[in-house]
Amino acid sequence: MEDHVVELSLRPRYLSEYIGQTQAKENLKIYIEAAKMRKEALDHVLLYGPPGLGKTTLSNIIANELGVNLRTTSGPAIERPGDLAALLTNLQEGDVLFIDEIHRLSRAVEEVLYPAMEDYALDIMIGKGPSARSVRLDLPRFTLIGATTRAGLLSAPLRDRFGVVSRLEYYTIEELSFIVSRTADLLGMAIVGEAAEEIAMRSRGTPRIANRLLKRVRDFAQVRGDGVITHEIANQAMELLQVDPMGLDHIDHKMLHAMMTSFAGRPVGLDTIAATVGEESQTIEDVYEPYLLQIGFLQRTPRGRVCTEPAYRHMKLPYPGQE
Ligand code: ADE
Repeated sequence: MEDHVVELSLRPRYLSEYIGQTQAKENLKIYIEAAKMRKEALDHVLLYGPPGLGKTTLSNIIANELGVNLRTTSGPAIERPGDLAALLTNLQEGDVLFIDEIHRLSRAVEEVLYPAMEDYALDIMIGKGPSARSVRLDLPRFTLIGATTRAGLLSAPLRDRFGVVSRLEYYTIEELSFIVSRTADLLGMAIVGEAAEEIAMRSRGTPRIANRLLKRVRDFAQVRGDGVITHEIANQAMELLQVDPMGLDHIDHKMLHAMMTSFAGRPVGLDTIAATVGEESQTIEDVYEPYLLQIGFLQRTPRGRVCTEPAYRHMKLPYPGQE
């Protein structure tokens, strides 16, 4: 099976199977229960946080728990107001509409979304010029789930229309170990506890990365070992994958190395870092930087990003003793 197909079938389908994000999970459990008791649509939900922490998985779970259909789309896919109108008018009572990368909706599309979220209504303009008038169309009551890497990227009026705002956090090593063991189990693989923990430690707090690493380690175990994922096999596979003990990959290394050598520890701007490693600024900001900030390897200063002393130690380079 293709990776993404396996991925889908491995995902938890109910809150009880979902590991981690305790805060978000406990809150959602109550809101879902209450909405079901009142036979109302769940309030609109905004999920935000770094990629790979389970925003899509959670929206699937929310729809499952509510016993309704899920329609999935993304900000960039909704080009014109008419595209959104088509989606909204095809919903059934109580359905969930999931919009990934919701911060990328255009202004014109957002304008259609406001009355839809607030009053379950669609305002349609008929005609042009002085005789133009607006007709209001009722929509089924629905739940919008918006996902974004950073809530700060959303316009204030859109953000204010979400009744539930949930920030997804990086997972602990323990939670990731559970997830790795669960996935191994579903894939019919034998894995020792130390190996699951080793993979967890190198997964940057992110289940998507943990499951991806597990699959590569499985390949390694099948070809080089006897199929059982031992601690040694896990370590060897990570070495081959160039994922270091902190979970940093060659992009992180390139970035840190350039900051420490070419820029000699001086503060560096995001665009300069991105150009140096050959990645998009947005990718550095959304994917690489948050984890390096989280583990305290990077600091944001008004003049740019700087590496901290532990980062120098990790990269085995002398710390210049920045002010
Ligand atoms: N697979 C990916 N994310 C998961 C999670 N949070 N819980 C259980 N399995 C997962």
